[in-house]
Amino acid sequence: MTDRSPLPGRQGEAYDCSEDIPVNRSSSPTLGDVINTRYGRRDVLKGALATTAISAILGPHAIARAISSDQPNFYFEEVSHGVDETHHVAPGYQADILIRWGDPVAGDAPPFDPAHQTPEAQDKQFGYNNDFLAYLPLPLGSQNASHGLLFVNHEYTNEELMFPGLGRQDKEAQFAGVTQALVDIEMSAHGASIIEVKQDRGRWHVVTDSPYVRRISARTTAMRLSGPAAGHRRLRTSADPSGTRVIGTLNNCAGGVTPWGTVLTCEENFNGYFTGHVEGHPEARNYQRYGVPGGVYAWGRFHHRFDINQEPYEANRFGWVVEIDPYDPTALPVKRTALGRFKHEGAMTILNPDGRLVLYSGDDQQFDYLYKYVSHGIVDRYQRSNNADILDQGTLFVARFHGQGTIEWMPLTWGSGPLTATHGFHSQADVLIETRRAADLLEATPMDRPEDVEPNPLTHKVYLMLTNNSRRLPEQIDTANPRADNQFGHVIEITPPDGDHAAQQATWEILVKCGDPGVAEVGALYHPSISKNGWFAAPDNCAIDHQGRLWIATDQGSNWSKSGTADGLWSMETEGTWRGLSRMFFRVPIGAEMCGPLFTPDDKTLFAAVQHPGSDGTKTYPGFERDSTFEDPATRWPDFKPDLPPRPAVVVITKADGGVIGT
Ligand code: FEO
Ligand code: CA
Ligand code: CA
Ligand code: CA
Repeated sequence: MTDRSPLPGRQGEAYDCSEDIPVNRSSSPTLGDVINTRYGRRDVLKGALATTAISAILGPHAIARAISSDQPNFYFEEVSHGVDETHHVAPGYQADILIRWGDPVAGDAPPFDPAHQTPEAQDKQFGYNNDFLAYLPLPLGSQNASHGLLFVNHEYTNEELMFPGLGRQDKEAQFAGVTQALVDIEMSAHGASIIEVKQDRGRWHVVTDSPYVRRISARTTAMRLSGPAAGHRRLRTSADPSGTRVIGTLNNCAGGVTPWGTVLTCEENFNGYFTGHVEGHPEARNYQRYGVPGGVYAWGRFHHRFDINQEPYEANRFGWVVEIDPYDPTALPVKRTALGRFKHEGAMTILNPDGRLVLYSGDDQQFDYLYKYVSHGIVDRYQRSNNADILDQGTLFVARFHGQGTIEWMPLTWGSGPLTATHGFHSQADVLIETRRAADLLEATPMDRPEDVEPNPLTHKVYLMLTNNSRRLPEQIDTANPRADNQFGHVIEITPPDGDHAAQQATWEILVKCGDPGVAEVGALYHPSISKNGWFAAPDNCAIDHQGRLWIATDQGSNWSKSGTADGLWSMETEGTWRGLSRMFFRVPIGAEMCGPLFTPDDKTLFAAVQHPGSDGTKTYPGFERDSTFEDPATRWPDFKPDLPPRPAVVVITKADGGVIGT
């Protein structure tokens, strides 16, 4: 999410080696070649679990050597840097609109009519600001690359672009024009959509009469709290004296998928939805650490649970990771408190070689931390229902980066070190509800806004996107955050010892320092062969395709006027001669951010989420130079019709010849 808060300073599965996938052009074997030769297609089809077996036998270092190459791992003609009203994809590829804000999700959804939108219509239509994407093959357990479920979350809403008449006003004036009906539409436009998607004769479409379709919202969807904090006094409200039932999920940014086929969606800037006064509040110390109340939305005026003075503990029921089962439309979403409460960017999982689940999650705020969770139990590969406690019983760790290239993972366990009653922690529930304060006491390393963190199941290296931190002062730089006033961000590569993600140590190094390498004072660092379109700024989401190749998506906010290019998607070499070389593959329209890059199991389809087109930084667009509104937006992407505002949408990208993306 782009920084919207008025507060100061806010801010695996294995390769499906089908024979018809062209192998890379070099004489060096790809990982796919190695696996295919060694194990054959049938074994590999068993997915992430097969990857674990492969790593256990070959060892992560052997795999890393296989993926290395003296040849580039990506072949495509670059898109140019720039800013305009539409999207651009590399030549030889097509990018089609799959689904847009307001398109039907439920079979009986009314037609989209943005000038007369209602909460009830929005409840059945695709929500706003699509961010994280997950593809779940149909049937469950298969590797079907042309028919599956698409999980899409909806992070937040841009009321000035969604609704007519709110105009170009300051927040106070804009709030005056907000009604309960508009707030309820906003609440219904948050959450997630689950749709069924299918590819016929090369083109993807949404299956309209699917039994799996589902809208999850901030307004109506009941959820369960589980784990050590569930039922705690500090999670109880007048509507839920049990402290175990919550309505809705807020500000879902990135996420993850579990090995058993559920989706994890992450509550990021939850503080913005709360209003009231924190002075003298029983949760003052806790709420101030998270910026509650953020006052970005007017919801508290119409729904008292978002007013911290009327419902003092409601804000403790947000900031969690939510597990959702897309294969069962009747399953209650579950907020898993063992994963901690902070501004979770994402929750990428990997099956550790010993069978435990490890989950990485960044806390996206300037000077906040990197976390990981290690389950106590072993994931059951065959009986899905046996994994119900994997995300409830485990240890949460926070990272301290040492200057000599090592990481120390420190457990956030009640009763150990400073996490005791002396510091106001009376149980593990207290530690989890105030995860940030517990991590402060452990002296975790303050980072430059940790966004997506993605473990590569083929090499076991972990990629951490640090988007930027303009508040870092020269005296605050360290080796892991080496630039003061870090406007453009950097990417760190973490290597667990012998592929053991549960270990309490790891090593790290910087992969790239972002920004324009042609401007010496920026201090950028890439492969020396970087092209003028190959550099990027503000890494946010990332994806690792099934060949183990890294792709990075950006979210500059209004900073694109400094970089001179809209956000987009870049390929990134991580191994061998070309390590640190990135190339621009896709560019979004003005004001949008690039989210959710996602590959089907055959890497022949890339789904991408274009979020808030026409929003950020339009004031600096030559020839427009004002903030976008419903009536007067900087772009009307993707419809370009005079009566339609810009609409966040999911784009589906395929290669014209039907081949693997980026080869
Ligand atoms: Fe919602 Fe951290 O991006
Ligand atoms: Ca976002
Ligand atoms: Ca972001
Ligand atoms: Ca993000």
